[in-house]
Amino acid sequence: MPNLVITGGTRGIGKATVELFLKEGWSVCTCARGEKDLEKLKEELKNPKLFTKACDVADRDSAKAFIEFCRENLGQFDLLINNASILGERVDIEHYPEDIWEEVIKVNINGVFYITKYALPYIKDGGMIVNMSSGAGKRPAPYWGAYAVSKFGVEGFSLLLAEELKPRGIKVYALNPGATRTQMRAKAYPQENPLTLKPPERVAEFIMEIVKTTPKRVSIDYGF
Ligand SMILES: NC(=O)c1ccc[n+]([C@@H]2O[C@H](COP(=O)([O-])OP(=O)(O)OC[C@H]3O[C@@H](n4cnc5c(N)ncnc54)[C@H](OP(=O)(O)O)[C@@H]3O)[C@@H](O)[C@H]2O)c1
Repeated sequence: MPNLVITGGTRGIGKATVELFLKEGWSVCTCARGEKDLEKLKEELKNPKLFTKACDVADRDSAKAFIEFCRENLGQFDLLINNASILGERVDIEHYPEDIWEEVIKVNINGVFYITKYALPYIKDGGMIVNMSSGAGKRPAPYWGAYAVSKFGVEGFSLLLAEELKPRGIKVYALNPGATRTQMRAKAYPQENPLTLKPPERVAEFIMEIVKTTPKRVSIDYGF
């Protein structure tokens, strides 16, 4: 059975994806910063095909150690999903705090670069990379600051990577999951009723569909 490396697997879209792929028989290696959440995940899922390691994707050494851990447990990778990201502040540029700006760029851009760079030698020819993007990375998104800029970056990164990896037959996608019932969405829209949103399981199913159908375009929105 194939295997998956996914960052940020302890909650939201990441967790739903971990669960679905395990259910379909895949081996899965995931990380998050929260060690307790990773332990809770292992306890809850009780699946010997699940491997977890604490990692901050924004930290080079930590990202490298996570990928080496995945390599030790999975061998070569079929699918890499760069899912981990942080929201930052929802405020105009003039008042955007510099330290939060830097943190968001480090996690959402540098993190995607580190994990991808370190994973590439181990991704099978003919494999796949999915980078979680956002509508805020495709259209003007006032007051989304560093998050929006980082997701425009993820879109650009995915487009160039897709070209670079053609000779190896590795497919690359930037996926905008759309509004999804998660902690990040609740932080961005505290007034919203989460029950009006699709659950993260729908996005996990959509990722599985992408894996099975390998669409032609690189930048994809939920529901195509
Ligand atoms: N939910 C939506 O409506 C929506 C819409 C558009 C795009 N997206 C994108 O979809 C992806 C998943 O979003 P979500 O809503 O499921 O987010 P979430 O509920 O906030 O979950 C984020 C996951 O990433 C981990 N994470 C965060 N920073 C990390 C770091 N530096 N290193 C390693 N792991 C880290 C978190 O665990 P720790 O905090 O313990 O590290 C957690 O497991 C993100 O890329 C997001 O931008 C979501």
